[in-house]
Amino acid sequence: MEALKNRIKQDGVVLGSQVLKVDSFLNHRVDPALMSAIGDTFADLFAEDRITRVLTIESSGIAPAVFAALRLEVDLIFARKRKSLTLRDDLYTEKAYSFTKQEENEITVSKHFLGADDRILIIDDFLANGQAALALARIVEQAGAQVAGIGIVIEKSFQNGRQVLQDAGYRVESLARVASLDGNEIRFVEVEAEVKAEVE
Ligand code: G4P
Repeated sequence: MEALKNRIKQDGVVLGSQVLKVDSFLNHRVDPALMSAIGDTFADLFAEDRITRVLTIESSGIAPAVFAALRLEVDLIFARKRKSLTLRDDLYTEKAYSFTKQEENEITVSKHFLGADDRILIIDDFLANGQAALALARIVEQAGAQVAGIGIVIEKSFQNGRQVLQDAGYRVESLARVASLDGNEIRFVEVEAEVKAEVE
């Protein structure tokens, strides 16, 4: 998505070789016009997939996910994160370990909001090691529902999240794929390389 890549180039701040800070339009201040365009793009990519719900995780997934849900004319559910939780029968619960933050979150979704006949589009802001998206997918599967696909705003392609999710059998669509972060330079995966990878 060109508008997103341009915005990342313009406003993204590289921290070391691993972290891309995008606080000025996605993770702290939010640009609604860009989120709306992101929602349109996800809705186009999954237009034929009979999506019944969008699922994300608080907090930064919510902004792009709400626009995708709006365009797909379905509800959005966001999983909640808790450090510890007393057992509750009416919640689906999964653990997600964050390598970036070196902490484990327990994530929960109410059993009232997911059903066996749902087809779910999972959306998240970043894909690093894939653990958050994988935990969301496991919650969908606990409910007996189907994961129609996973939509990511920014994928760090130098980490293994895409591989993890594809190996688990999920379709992954990322709107910007960052190949490397080096000093202040942000390189994206070449479109030709993306096409070639799909053909192979
Ligand atoms: P994973 O799910 O792909 O395995 O990623 P990981 O656990 O490593 O990421 C944990 C948190 O760090 C997530 O936010 C994720 O969005 C964020 N993150 C990972 N890499 C980057 C990066 O390069 N830049 C930025 N800005 N964020 C990154 P979170 O803890 O869920 O926080 P939030 O959604 O409440 O903001």
